[in-house]
Amino acid sequence: PPGPTSYPGVGNTIGFLRDPFAFYDGLREYGDVVSYSVAGEDFCTLLHPEHVERVLVTEESKFGKSEFIREAGEKFIGNGLFASEGEFWRRQRTMMQPAFYRERIGTYAEPMVAFAAETADSWDDGEAIRLQQVMKRLTLRILATALFDHDVRGADSSIHDAARGIARAINEKSDAGSVDSLLPDWVPTATNRRYRRAITRFDEAVERLIDERRDEPPGDDFLSILLHATDDRGEGMSDEALRDELATFLFAGHETTALALTYCLYLLSNHPRVRRKLNDELDSVLDGDAPTMADLRALDYTDKIVTEALRRYPPAYVVFRETKQDVILGGYTIPEGTSLTLPQFVIQNDDRWFDDPETFDPDRWTPEMKADLPDYAYFPFGGGPRHCIGMRFANAEIRLVLATIAQRVEFDTTTDELDLRMGTTLEPTNPIEMTVKTR
Ligand code: HEM
Repeated sequence: PPGPTSYPGVGNTIGFLRDPFAFYDGLREYGDVVSYSVAGEDFCTLLHPEHVERVLVTEESKFGKSEFIREAGEKFIGNGLFASEGEFWRRQRTMMQPAFYRERIGTYAEPMVAFAAETADSWDDGEAIRLQQVMKRLTLRILATALFDHDVRGADSSIHDAARGIARAINEKSDAGSVDSLLPDWVPTATNRRYRRAITRFDEAVERLIDERRDEPPGDDFLSILLHATDDRGEGMSDEALRDELATFLFAGHETTALALTYCLYLLSNHPRVRRKLNDELDSVLDGDAPTMADLRALDYTDKIVTEALRRYPPAYVVFRETKQDVILGGYTIPEGTSLTLPQFVIQNDDRWFDDPETFDPDRWTPEMKADLPDYAYFPFGGGPRHCIGMRFANAEIRLVLATIAQRVEFDTTTDELDLRMGTTLEPTNPIEMTVKTR
């Protein structure tokens, strides 16, 4: 079979830098398997759910993590779970899995609700807040508590500060529309210098934390589970592996969840009918009490709101893979070593799988619709063996925090339309200003 349809233009770097959204939009006109090149790297975008399923699930062994993603993240997330492969990845994933069992997520529920309540209670009626910034602080606090059993407002907030510094530096580096995003780490730009300094601070903070905790008896938090985990030969994790996993979890776990909450709350402020239905559900199920894990089953409409927000604006907007051999997809030969992009934000907003995809409509998620939806037309957490290990944690956190905040306040916004950027995550270009209305 011939090669896939090429996106016209020899090298697409300039078009991509100018407007990555228009770039992906343009791809759709050339079919479901479209090749292009950016900054000397050969890419192929897959736009059909069947291809997503083959790459992530049924034929996953033919595909690896993209080399350029591993390189981009190497300094910070090292060989942590997101980037590692093969036997090392399997061993690490198996050792960490117990931290994400259902019972364990239950123990994280309490700080999720308590910190959300504290955040919402700190707002005055009529106060203006910057939604994404507030949500990032909240999810980082929740994550650090779950990961390190360490309330980051306490005396030692070095991990917290270090993690925020890293998040800022990574965002600055990875904006898909910036030239910096295409330069290797060793080029001495101001961005790269800030990035390296942020990593040094993080490493020092983690080293101190590991030293403090190494000799403590086993506890319930993630770090303790990692410190005491052993593989099938009875061997534990090296300090270096531990550091990479902590960096990975901080990196993968707080901005994504903060963005999901930001989009939920933003969309609710623009959709008064949805907001009224949510209020009715919260009032009737919770009756003024704090939500618990057990309540989540009854919060059916809350669940639909989150599902729909993750469809419309998926925080992780593209999954990257690389072909480890020549493969045939959609009738085309894709050569070994090609970077594949599986863009959730395109597929989940495609009118072949979702009616009126640009409308935020939680009510679309009926049992019949779900039964008809092709597998992998919706994959905000990826799929197959490399799917998001934090999915259960995130799903609980988003729903519990959303319910807790929505019980207390509503928001008005002056932002009518979201202007988004493709960084490491899909995020608003400008701060979303919200005015708090106490309920
Ligand atoms: C992997 C999305 C929250 C930790 C992934 C992947 C996606 C994703 C799409 C697959 C990447 C790939 O296949 O290349 C999300 C979204 C989140 C979220 C949308 C929130 C709304 C979290 C949280 C944690 C976490 C809270 C940790 C507590 C990870 C890790 C991986 C991963 C460690 C790599 C897993 C592996 O390769 O074995 N996530 N994630 N994520 N996520 Fe999440």
